[in-house]
This record gives sequence, C-alpha cells and structure tokens, in this order.
Amino acid sequence: MKKTILITLTFAALSSSGFAQKALIKSQFDLAEKQAKVMLADIPAATPANAKVVPVSPRTLSPTGALQLVPARDWTSGFFPGELWYLYEYTHNPEWLKQARLYTAKIENEKLNAGTHDMGFKIYCSFGNGYRLTNDPAYKDVIIQSARTLIKRYKPAAGIIRSWDHHKEVWQCPVIIDNMMNLELLFAATKLTGDRTFADIAVKHAQTTMKNHFRPDMSSYHVVDYDTLTGKVIQKNTHQGYSHESAWARGQAWALYGYTMCYRETRDKAFLEQAEKVAAFILQHPRLPADLIPYWDFDAPKIPDEPRDVSAATVMASALYELSAFSKQGAMYRAKADRIIANLAKNYVSPEGENHGFILLHSTGSKPANSEVDVPLSYADYYYLEALLRKQKL
Ligand code: GLY
Repeated sequence: MKKTILITLTFAALSSSGFAQKALIKSQFDLAEKQAKVMLADIPAATPANAKVVPVSPRTLSPTGALQLVPARDWTSGFFPGELWYLYEYTHNPEWLKQARLYTAKIENEKLNAGTHDMGFKIYCSFGNGYRLTNDPAYKDVIIQSARTLIKRYKPAAGIIRSWDHHKEVWQCPVIIDNMMNLELLFAATKLTGDRTFADIAVKHAQTTMKNHFRPDMSSYHVVDYDTLTGKVIQKNTHQGYSHESAWARGQAWALYGYTMCYRETRDKAFLEQAEKVAAFILQHPRLPADLIPYWDFDAPKIPDEPRDVSAATVMASALYELSAFSKQGAMYRAKADRIIANLAKNYVSPEGENHGFILLHSTGSKPANSEVDVPLSYADYYYLEALLRKQKL
C-alpha cells in the first residue's frame, strides 16, 4: 500500500514538473510569436528608402531605441530567418513558413561571399533550418554552394579557416573562437554531397583550434593569429573581450557549442572531452552569477557592476541541452540549462509588444567598442528558441 502511494506521488511529481516545463516552453513560444509579429510590422518603417545596400534583417536596437536592420552581408543576417523557422517548427503555422521563406530568400547571395568566415552563422541558421524542415532542393544547393565558398578560406599549412579580413595591420591570419560555429555547415555539405573535403577541413580546423586556442584552465582566447606559410601561431589576443588574457563570455559559449556539435558530427571522444572541460570552466567559474547568466567577460574588472551577456547564456543553454544527451554528466548539464532558461524567462524577457519585437533584453555585443551594450540581440533570441526546442525534444 505504502509503495503504491509512493509510486503515485512520484509519478504525480514527475508529471507536474513535466507539465511545468511544457508550459514554460509554450509560454515562451507564445511570447516569441507575439514579438515576431511586432517585429515584422516594424521592419518596413525601419528600412531606409534608397539605401545603397538594402538592410534585410533585424539585429538590435540603437541607443535611441530604434530598430536596427542589417544587410545580408552582416554576420547576424541569418538569425531572424532562423527564428522564423523555429517558430514554424514549434507551431506548424503556415504563416511562419511563408515569412521564414521570405526572409531566408533575402540573404541567398551570401552563398558567394568569400570575404568572411561567417557563412555558417548566416546560411546554416537560415537555409540549414529551412532545408531540415522542408527538404527543399533549392535550399540544399545553397548550403552546398556556401560550403564551397567557405572552404576557399582554408589555409592548409596552418590547418585553419581564416576568420577576418579586416585589421590587416594587426593580424596576418586571425582565427576567432566563434569560427567553430561555422563548421556545422561544412559537416552538412559532406552529408549532402558525399564529398569528405568539407568535413575533413572542419575536423582539421577544430583540432587546430583545440591545440592553440585554449589556456591550461580551458578558457579560450578570442583571436589566434597564424603565419599562413609556416602555420605557426604569431600571437593570441582579444577583440571583444576585456583583455588578451581574459575569458570573454560569448567566446566560451561558442567553444562549448562548437565542440559539442563537432562530437555530434564525428563521435570523436576528444571533442566530447573538450566540450566537457569547457563546460566545467564555465559552470564552476566563481564569477558566474547565481542565476547562470554570465557577465560579458568572466574577468571584467567591476563584477558585479558589469553588464550581463544574455546571448552567451542562450548559446550555453542550447549547447548544454545537446551535450546532456552525450555526456555521463548529462543530468547535471540539463539541470543547469533548465535553470538558465527558467531565469531568462522570469527576469530577462521583454514586456510583450515592446522593444520592436525582440524577445530577450540585456545582451552585450562588444563592450570594448562600447557597442551594443545591454541591448537585445537577434542571436540571443535565435539561440533561446533553439534551446527551448532542444529542451522540448529531450
Ligand atoms: N561572432 C561575433 C560575436 O560573437 O560577436
């Protein structure tokens, strides 16, 4: 009898927490839908007439609160189309499919832009999700062409894909930790074509980055500069972090997400161990706040009086959900991701109908440049929806 009561109570507790999680996900997608409608309605007024390069995707709010759009070539142009795909995935509402197709099409020309490493961010978040959800062969072609364009930036002697072309007076061949995120597109291209070249380059880049980007405590440098003839590392420093030796929060998040994804694609245990070590650096850090929403840099000098970076938190949450399915520490990772999501939903979301439709507040783009500090950012919203979908699927 006692045993029956215990089982019934346990089952009730589990289902009620399952219901609570489901309700949380639903409430956040309800909010996301309302906010996306606001954003779609506000985009025309934010689009300048006669602009030389037409802005196509929302990125953030200006200091005066105006909606800021970016042209297709901006590294963030794929996130808004990606959000629309996630809304379609959750709701199955054909209106979101229509909007997702529309905003995805606006950035197709990027498939030929070899002047940047950000191809994965742009094309995989938009066309990648589009192909996953529709099997549209035209989207497949865009993914493959984009991968072909991206690997033009591969430097065989160094074993890396070049990140930036700017600041040539500072770096010979800069590689930023963010570049780990562009590898998913290459793995996809190999699966779609059967050509190993793409995945081989992705693996080489991930291995070289593992060797050169990480400090003994498993925090990551932001920028590593290579000599492309000898492959030697010239310097290690930062661009968006507090100092060359600091741990820029979003960089740590990109590393966590990137190595988790590399393990998914290769099943190479070295990548799983790398992701686990990066997770330990982040989650055990004494300056990670109790609500698990990091400050913009773990070494920012005025903590706790420093801006948070919600975008880093959403990337971490999404990565932790994926990692939870691979790791022996899965239950812990999942609990941490749940806490991040619960805290974001409680304390960091925009009031409904405000902020031109962004979902989350309090991200930091580049504190050293005093640019996009404590603002909404499209990539925070994108990885938030992705994390919610991953949570739902677990
Ligand atoms: N990939 C650029 C950034 O994280 O700000």
